[in-house]
Amino acid sequence: MEWTKYKQDIKNAATKISSAWAVKPTTCIVLGSGLSSLADSLEDTIEIPYSSIPGFPQVTVVGHEGILILGNLNNVPVILLKGRFHYYEGHPIETVVFPIRVMKELGIKLMILTNAAGGINKEMKPGDLMIIKDHIGLFCESPLRGENFDEYGPRFPDQSSVYDYKSALLHANDLKIPCFPGVYAYAKGPMYETPAEIRLFSHLGADAVGMSTVPEAIVASHGGMKVVGISCITNFAAGILDQPLSHAEVMEVGKLAANNMKNLIIRIVLDC
Ligand code: HPA
Repeated sequence: MEWTKYKQDIKNAATKISSAWAVKPTTCIVLGSGLSSLADSLEDTIEIPYSSIPGFPQVTVVGHEGILILGNLNNVPVILLKGRFHYYEGHPIETVVFPIRVMKELGIKLMILTNAAGGINKEMKPGDLMIIKDHIGLFCESPLRGENFDEYGPRFPDQSSVYDYKSALLHANDLKIPCFPGVYAYAKGPMYETPAEIRLFSHLGADAVGMSTVPEAIVASHGGMKVVGISCITNFAAGILDQPLSHAEVMEVGKLAANNMKNLIIRIVLDC
């Protein structure tokens, strides 16, 4: 890895984005599978396709677009990343977290990461939201591997409280949105897990499983950002019900829960 070039790419991408809008948002929202309707709530938008930002690779997953949107959410300026990069697409882990590094460079202080996830804890059902209180990232290649960027964060960052979840939970309860605080387990994908893997995760204390978010949360917290993680439980994880999993189901349920997700995010953004 050419770290000098990587850092230069981060700076170039940040310059391209900041030159598009005089306003300097401090909140970024990453939209997961099937959760892109939040973008419709933004006003005064400026869209920048990832393809025109230096260093941004292309998104390859159906249901994920590749657009960065600058705009106001209930009068609060935000950056929306509509489409993210996954390890399973074949990207190196540094590429997966490239946009998060760029957000740090832009001065983002609050990173809201959303995703679709399979429910392991049987108390959650498809359509519910889970506020991530912690994660199991042992099966994820470290996004901090390689040269440390001391100007962003320390070599050996503490991980005792990666997620800021308490106020998000209060907002969800206030809005009467079915919502659980839970542990998100990372799986590399793109295959869904086997029932035995889900039993393992369950023994390890995971409440939900998904193929994103953990690398981004690690890098955002490394950079000192406040991280809020929200999973939309789109299905029971493998083996919990006696039926196979489908990507179509994941996308459909994501759309249904998107309204709750949207209302919760607006509350969180207005609160900061
Ligand atoms: N496993 C992994 N990722 C997922 C799932 C799942 O069951 N559902 C949505 N994303």
